Amino acid sequence: MKALILVGGFGTRLRPLTFSMPKPLVDFGNKPMILHQIEALKAAGVTEVVLAINHQQPEVMLNFVKEYEKKLEIKITFSQEIEPLGTAGPLALARDLLVDESAEPFLVLNSDVICEYPLLEMIEFHKTNGAEASIMVTKVDDPSKYGVVVMEEDTSRVESFVEKPKHFVGNKINAGIYLLNPSVLDRIELRRTSIEKEIFPKIASERKLYAMVLPGFWMDIGQPKDYITGQRMYLDSLRKKAPQELVTGDHIVGNVLADETAVIGERCLIGPDVVIGPGCVIESGVRLFNCTVMRGARIKKHACVSNSIVGWDSTVGSWARVVNISVLGKDVHVADAEVYSNGATIIEEQMSVKPEIVV
Ligand code: GDD
Ligand code: MG
Repeated sequence: MKALILVGGFGTRLRPLTFSMPKPLVDFGNKPMILHQIEALKAAGVTEVVLAINHQQPEVMLNFVKEYEKKLEIKITFSQEIEPLGTAGPLALARDLLVDESAEPFLVLNSDVICEYPLLEMIEFHKTNGAEASIMVTKVDDPSKYGVVVMEEDTSRVESFVEKPKHFVGNKINAGIYLLNPSVLDRIELRRTSIEKEIFPKIASERKLYAMVLPGFWMDIGQPKDYITGQRMYLDSLRKKAPQELVTGDHIVGNVLADETAVIGERCLIGPDVVIGPGCVIESGVRLFNCTVMRGARIKKHACVSNSIVGWDSTVGSWARVVNISVLGKDVHVADAEVYSNGATIIEEQMSVKPEIVV
């Protein structure tokens, strides 16, 4: 089976991290977001993954691909747009890479969704219903920023699909994971076009679109607040499925994932819901909860980081407080002394923060 991952978005909502790294390569749970997906695709029997990219520098992605093609024994190819083709156009562009004589259905994933990827169940669901297209759906409290699906509960057939509805139509939303028959490609023109606005509503009106309710957790981690919520859900799921990957100790509370090369000093209190990347140094007396500290970062003595993301190779000075959805990009250095970063987005080295309050 083949799969395509839509990786062409600009990742603007995850700036400043995406100034230094394409969104699919931003770490989540100590590995690039897209690797969670490629591993799940491999486990479901996918042998070839097409990455639909547009503006990204292919070289950045190329190194990643070279490394993981070998490690995972899976073929990864690029399909690059000259100009952004939206969420459907890239499928038309990659047509020859997706369809072969087997005429098998193929998987399509948004690159910023995280869940337990029950892809084998989805393949079974698609066959059982004789669907032309199947999508995974999940329930959320605020459906307005997603594609909303109205479906018949007993048959799982989708009655209507409304992208980013202005008025409430339901709380089951498109989880960004699809299984499509090759015939769907005949519906897509090679131009900028949206699968959510132009293709799914049409298939639904012909009663050939089915929705599988996703078991387990789900989150679109394309913005900082949701990234942090998604991380909590991911660590919860890891606790159930692979608890040995989480660290334990006197100074650890709840779910904490720390790379084995990270150094944690004395009298720290870490957790719950913390991820610490490779080569990080957490000096003594530090308090961390609900946060990510990415590869190579240093948190100096007695600093506190909560509900925030500390980007690669950054430093948080001693006694600093970085809280409330603050995001430090790569190589940001928050000075020593009592800096208080409350919900700040700190972009780059030149903006090294002096002792003052940043809001
Ligand atoms: N190749 C390519 N070219 N990919 C693109 C382009 C493009 O022009 N535009 C967006 N993408 C990719 C993004 O990188 C992302 O993986 C996916 O398409 C969806 O784009 P987002 O920008 O993340 O959309 P969204 O989060 O607002 O909404 C989508 O995801 C929701 C679930 O998270 C929709 O599919 C909604 O219906 C869905 O509920
Ligand atoms: Mg998204």
